[in-house]
Amino acid sequence: MTSETNSTGRTIAIGAAAGVAAGLAVNLVRKAAVQAPTVMAGNWDEALAAEHAAALKLFDLIEASDDSDPGRRAVLLMQLKHAIGKHAFQEENVVYAMMRDQGLTEAADHLNHEHGYVKQYFFDLTEMPKSDPAWLPKVKEFRAMIEQHMREEEDDLFPKMRAKLSDKQNKHITRAMNKEGLKLA
Ligand SMILES: [Fe+2]
Ligand SMILES: [Fe+2]
Repeated sequence: MTSETNSTGRTIAIGAAAGVAAGLAVNLVRKAAVQAPTVMAGNWDEALAAEHAAALKLFDLIEASDDSDPGRRAVLLMQLKHAIGKHAFQEENVVYAMMRDQGLTEAADHLNHEHGYVKQYFFDLTEMPKSDPAWLPKVKEFRAMIEQHMREEEDDLFPKMRAKLSDKQNKHITRAMNKEGLKLA
């Protein structure tokens, strides 16, 4: 009886462990799929530019939404927040840190400061009723701010940093950045 109970208990424990392992495996596959477009876009700066473009597409969808569909707005805002949150994690944990190591401290601090205001917009837009007529104008204001930030990164500061790095360093930070991205993917 006791040994039967033990054996059943063990079977259940093994089954539960297998379930957890399968769950983890599924989650890893999902994370890899989320990070894949960034990995496939190539070098860190091209990868970040691809994420900028993807975020702007989400802004397009939000801007096309109507005051009468607050549910859709909430879902799209959540998707945008997740995409930009992961993006900022990659930039802050790897790219901006490397910028400071390369002497571009002021640039990195400036970009990091702007990320604080990106979070501010997300907070305000989350708090506001999505059917409020002032909601979309706030989204447009947010987009103008973030597009300017993206332009600064893509057209000025990222090329400056890429030029400072050897091929080996560029490859290294591309890998490090994707590793950070996977954590939040
Ligand atoms: Fe940024
Ligand atoms: Fe960026």
